[in-house]
Amino acid sequence: MSQAIYPVRPEDAARAHVDAAAYERLYAEAAQDPDGFWRRQAERLDWTTPPTQIGDWSFDEADFHIKWFADGALNVSANCLDRHLATRGDDTAIIWEGDDPADGRRISYRELHADVCRLANALKAKGVAKGDRVTIYLPMIPEAAVAMLACTRIGAVHSIVFGGFSPDALANRIQDCDSRLLITADEGRRGGKRVPLKANVDAALAHCTSVDTVLVVRHTGGEVTMQPGRDTDYAEAIAAAAPDCPAEPMGAEDPLFILYTSGSTGKPKGVLHTTGGYLLWAAYTHETVFDYRPGEVFWCTADVGWVTGHSYTVYGPLANGGTTLMFEGVPNWPDHGRFWDVIDKHKVDIFYTAPTALRALMREGDDWVTRSSRKSLRLLGSVGEPINPEAWEWYHRVVGEGKLPIVDTWWQTETGGIMISPLPGATDLKPGSASKPFFGVLPQVVDAEGVVLEGATEGNLVLAASWPGQMRTVWNDHDRFFQTYFTTYKGKYFTGDGVRRDADGYYWITGRVDDVINVSGHRMGTAEVESALVAHAKVAEAAVVGMPHDVKGQGIYAYVTLNAGVEGDEALRKELVQWVRREIGPIASPDAIQFAPGLPKTRSGKIMRRILRKIAEGEVGALGDTSTLADPAVVDHLVANRVS
Ligand code: WTA
Repeated sequence: MSQAIYPVRPEDAARAHVDAAAYERLYAEAAQDPDGFWRRQAERLDWTTPPTQIGDWSFDEADFHIKWFADGALNVSANCLDRHLATRGDDTAIIWEGDDPADGRRISYRELHADVCRLANALKAKGVAKGDRVTIYLPMIPEAAVAMLACTRIGAVHSIVFGGFSPDALANRIQDCDSRLLITADEGRRGGKRVPLKANVDAALAHCTSVDTVLVVRHTGGEVTMQPGRDTDYAEAIAAAAPDCPAEPMGAEDPLFILYTSGSTGKPKGVLHTTGGYLLWAAYTHETVFDYRPGEVFWCTADVGWVTGHSYTVYGPLANGGTTLMFEGVPNWPDHGRFWDVIDKHKVDIFYTAPTALRALMREGDDWVTRSSRKSLRLLGSVGEPINPEAWEWYHRVVGEGKLPIVDTWWQTETGGIMISPLPGATDLKPGSASKPFFGVLPQVVDAEGVVLEGATEGNLVLAASWPGQMRTVWNDHDRFFQTYFTTYKGKYFTGDGVRRDADGYYWITGRVDDVINVSGHRMGTAEVESALVAHAKVAEAAVVGMPHDVKGQGIYAYVTLNAGVEGDEALRKELVQWVRREIGPIASPDAIQFAPGLPKTRSGKIMRRILRKIAEGEVGALGDTSTLADPAVVDHLVANRVS
């Protein structure tokens, strides 16, 4: 734990929406009178019917429900577009930077509005109605934002699937929410390589029957097969559509989007966010945490396939009338200076990225950074995983030239937006600490039995009250929603994260305490990788745990028991890695595979993951209590054959 403190700079406090005194006041107001507080905050959105009901929720089983602004109505695309047209129609809404540094576009609010209306009309012409699900499987191109907003315009529910997911993973996500229409591109580009999106779609749709229409954006011009009757060229579809489409007034609690995320079981969960509370949370946190003002260029490097891309590449910045930068590429192509070149090229004011990218770039030396000017930068941000103090200090010293504040923002797909974070004009910074809760967020530290711990302490992180951006359900499985988040600690939302709180009330997230691992800032369920492995014909059993990894934060360590008579060799190891990539996607590639004749189990047959974690971490001297093992010899074999 780093002891360093970086005080708020006077110039940041002076310009801030929220300084230290305002933070204390607003935090107290939101805690003491949530309805009054959120009623006032809701005024930052345009409502077709302003809400009179504010928070209405209970985390108790008997009366479990979560609603915010339930009698209000609004439209998300109208809030992100129409209301800005009169004052800043010609301002840039999206700066697009292609994978190839020579590719780029700037799109004004007026142009974006027309594109969104056209696509909304095209969707209607294809029979998409309010409440229907639309799957989006696109690269990081402006059409992804257009597709999201077009869905919201007509009340369709989007489900974005990250372009790095395999056809099988895509098919499962389409089937789970029963999408009728899918929007994709011929190919994506990443680091000079092409990603065969349309071919993946063809493979996925071979197993799903719900999709009857596919819109295909011609992005690279790569060759694709178009299935007559099903596949339509995106450009043709929108060329035939009018640039005007009324925005459908939606109930605040109407579904806005589904986003699949990994949990402790094999099947990803369809996290559902609704219209009013989510948009308010995205907009308000974006303005406050980044101290954002229109005219500034905001760059969140996350792909729209993840929640960070939803809330801070698209919805937050556009709801605030801002300029958002969308980047198709990767940090290390054409070279390791790409991020900093893009910052200079587009005069980026605020840069928001993940620790894994910083750690990868840090290894390449400071020259890649220092050759750029970065003088447009005002604020840096971090998200997705704990940032180790070394990476924080490097970000601060080298990227920020020892001057710029860093907001280390803790939140989750489930929370809709930022929950614990410094505010640049209010919070003294401690490297590695997400620091203080946002307004309306009531964190508690509890022990394994649920006893609330006070003062400086360590335990599990729960949230004691609902907030507007909270997810409302798991798509099609409301019971799973309740079971997953509200039963471990009765009456509270359990985050799945461990946390330490210091004497100054700062929160330090220590990482997941469940069977979820965080690989390069991407959430991965160990059970998902296990089910992919056991689907291979030669595998009898598999257990997957996280292991420390210099760049990825956590790597994937798989223990694999093969079927009788199968020899575990290097070739099979490679085959299994390829297999998992095909089943889930490259982000799930195991970093280490250890062939194990047996796994450590209790006498009742439960795998003792604690031991497997310790071995993967190399902590073989501290295996703890092994007395309940059915066969202690298994552990000796695992330790002796550890893959390092
Ligand atoms: C982790 C990403 C420490 C945490 C927005 C959480 C973090 C999970 C931070 C959610 C942070 C995210 N410091 N850990 N600043 N931000 N996490 O759903 O374990 O992809 O539970 O949402 O990432 O990941 P998700």
